[in-house]
Amino acid sequence: MAENRQKALFVHNIGELWTAEGLRAAAGPAMGRVKKFRDTCLYIEDGRISAIGEEARLRAAATAAPTFDAEGRACVPGFIDSHTHFIFAGWREDEFYWRAQGIPYMEMHQRGGGIQKSVDATRRASLEELVRLGKARLETMLSLGITTVEGKSGYGLDKETELRQLQAMDELSTVMPLTIIPTFLGAHSIPPEYKDRPREFLAFLVREVFPLFKKRGQTPFVDIFCEEGVFGIEDSRWYLEQARAAGFALKLHADEVKPLGGAGLAAELGATSADHLLKASDQDIQALAAAGTIACLLPLTAFNLREPYASGRRFIDAGCAVALASDLNPGSCYSQSIPLIFALAVLYLGMSIEEALTALTLNGAAALGLAAQTGSLEPGKDADFLLLNAPSPGHLAYHAGMNLVHSVFKRGILVWQNGNVLGPARI
Ligand code: NIG
Ligand code: FE
Repeated sequence: MAENRQKALFVHNIGELWTAEGLRAAAGPAMGRVKKFRDTCLYIEDGRISAIGEEARLRAAATAAPTFDAEGRACVPGFIDSHTHFIFAGWREDEFYWRAQGIPYMEMHQRGGGIQKSVDATRRASLEELVRLGKARLETMLSLGITTVEGKSGYGLDKETELRQLQAMDELSTVMPLTIIPTFLGAHSIPPEYKDRPREFLAFLVREVFPLFKKRGQTPFVDIFCEEGVFGIEDSRWYLEQARAAGFALKLHADEVKPLGGAGLAAELGATSADHLLKASDQDIQALAAAGTIACLLPLTAFNLREPYASGRRFIDAGCAVALASDLNPGSCYSQSIPLIFALAVLYLGMSIEEALTALTLNGAAALGLAAQTGSLEPGKDADFLLLNAPSPGHLAYHAGMNLVHSVFKRGILVWQNGNVLGPARI
């Protein structure tokens, strides 16, 4: 089916427009260099930004285009949530309360609860059920201004269910106006069938599941949960080398609970991103910066696990490109709150509002290999943008945990406004 794109649109009366710039991730000090326009307009042709500027200058070119009045609202690029696990069945609210009483996340994992509980429920769920559950979560994402989202498999740990999770994302791509990038996370946990045999399980994934995903040709990334008690450094290196040889780009859940050195491994292998990084060492952070591997920080997970946040400041000062994402999942973080991410980034991660915006837009796009196409507002890029119920994007962290999104445009088409999904079947 062909992509839907707005033929032409002229958005005028924008109060303040803020955007990062560039076709690749912004690293270090570049993260704070956000371009700011006042009293400006956006001219869109064929679903892409054609020009940004003053009404008097742009109007002439845009005479035939329908006009949209932003009524003085602020404008930013659509948010990119570059790390989620939004396709799963069942719930784990019991664990949330156990954690609140002090039981560690990994203890539940070791007792066979945790991820395995979601695996059991997801294995039992039909494709229709997974699509229904995923759709509701995508609707919430749209309402929060997310126009591109990554979704990981990893609640199947067998061929059939992993494929079913990916099929659910395929189907949702045809009915929801967001870009969905699937990641193969079969190496999320060791299923009971392979208890204490991590390497054999990984070899099974390489042998029997990789070819299926390669054949589909739509799964750019392979990810692994590199963690003590799950997949260690050597198993992770072996697996990711196989993935790279099979043509996948790489992501890692790295140094979340124990400082295993997953961030260093990500840099060594040239991974696109290393995610979590709560326990990453200074040396490994420098290695990420040197390798150009994006540091994807997930503050909602640290909040939920009551762990010290990964300091965004430390990563940016070391020269890294930092992305921020939700990590929406049924266990360690059932939240997709972009507003709370903004507030945490500024109040606890030591980031400026400009750096947080870059992390949730351009660098999120780069973490998904899409920085040349989306993530910033500049001529030639997709017209994925938001209008906010605020005069300036500076309000994004200041209205702590509150949704400021007024309207969401995907490829120039208004797809969400005032609580309603308006979008066409497919973007
Ligand atoms: O990114 N840490 C591993 N994976 C997820 C949690 C998955 C779960 O608890 O279901 C994460 O936090
Ligand atoms: Fe995760």
